[in-house]
Amino acid sequence: MRNKYRRSAMPFGSVQGARKIFLAKERGGGAHEDLVALDDASFDFEAGEFVSLLGPSGCGKTTLLRMVAGLMPRSGGSIMVNGKDVDGPYGDYGFVFQAPSLMPWRTVLQNVLFPMDVLKRNDAAARNRAHELLALVGLADFASSRPHQLSGGMQQRVALCRALIHAPKLLLMDEPFGALDELTRLEMNDLLLNIRKETGASVLFVTHSISEAVYLADKVLVFSRRPARIVEQLTVNLAYPRSQAVRFTPEFTLAKRLASEALGIVAPTAAGGAH
Ligand SMILES: Nc1ncnc2c1ncn2[C@@H]1O[C@H](COP(=O)(O)OP(=O)(O)OP(=O)(O)O)[C@@H](O)[C@H]1O
Ligand SMILES: [Mg+2]
Repeated sequence: MRNKYRRSAMPFGSVQGARKIFLAKERGGGAHEDLVALDDASFDFEAGEFVSLLGPSGCGKTTLLRMVAGLMPRSGGSIMVNGKDVDGPYGDYGFVFQAPSLMPWRTVLQNVLFPMDVLKRNDAAARNRAHELLALVGLADFASSRPHQLSGGMQQRVALCRALIHAPKLLLMDEPFGALDELTRLEMNDLLLNIRKETGASVLFVTHSISEAVYLADKVLVFSRRPARIVEQLTVNLAYPRSQAVRFTPEFTLAKRLASEALGIVAPTAAGGAH
């Protein structure tokens, strides 16, 4: 299937042969053997492209995201983002973790502005942007609240605003909606697609949900068990904007089936083989 993103000579992001080996001495707990977490991961992503990462628990998805963010050194391969080799943390991405990890003593607004404090850019423009983002996620009235006064879903929306406050070109998301109830999760999916459209950011999104991976993405990367490799790169041929009704179409079911086959959950069929 053709990808709608124009393949340029140099993609916005490129991960080539990325490997991660945790040495026995790094593993703790009396481990005697080195552990190959990620064996060989190669994929490109374009500016504005939404890529879902799907794979069994412990296969190295978080590790890969941390390596793309420059938060963890890699054991081999190359990672380039926006024309630069990743060799340490850089400012041009937002990271959303599974838990919102807000600072309880700061207000919602102050939490959203935290990266701007670090970057020493907490000015009037930043505060305006923070209010705009909070309005976008439906939290305009909660700017002065403290995190404990919000529900889990609301806290995760604050974490999303915090990741977006410095207008990053890349959003790295590690199972951000895993702890939410299904209704909130569906709402957050639509919200995220709107934000991606508004900001034009590329998104690397780790999830355990096959439906969520397909619903959101231009492209789904399916990982094998550890030592992990990418066993499939599926292009999702569903038009944007997407709405929840798309989940009930044959195209959506087929995409889920192909992902399930790649994960080894269902046996391959002729339909799968045709793609
Ligand atoms: N800092 C670390 N030191 C040692 N081993 C680690 C470290 N981080 C991860 N690992 C190991 O690397 C492997 C991959 O871990 P990782 O957290 O990347 O998996 P994952 O795909 O994100 O899993 P999950 O879906 O459960 O979140 C695991 O076996 C884990 O024990
Ligand atoms: Mg993980």
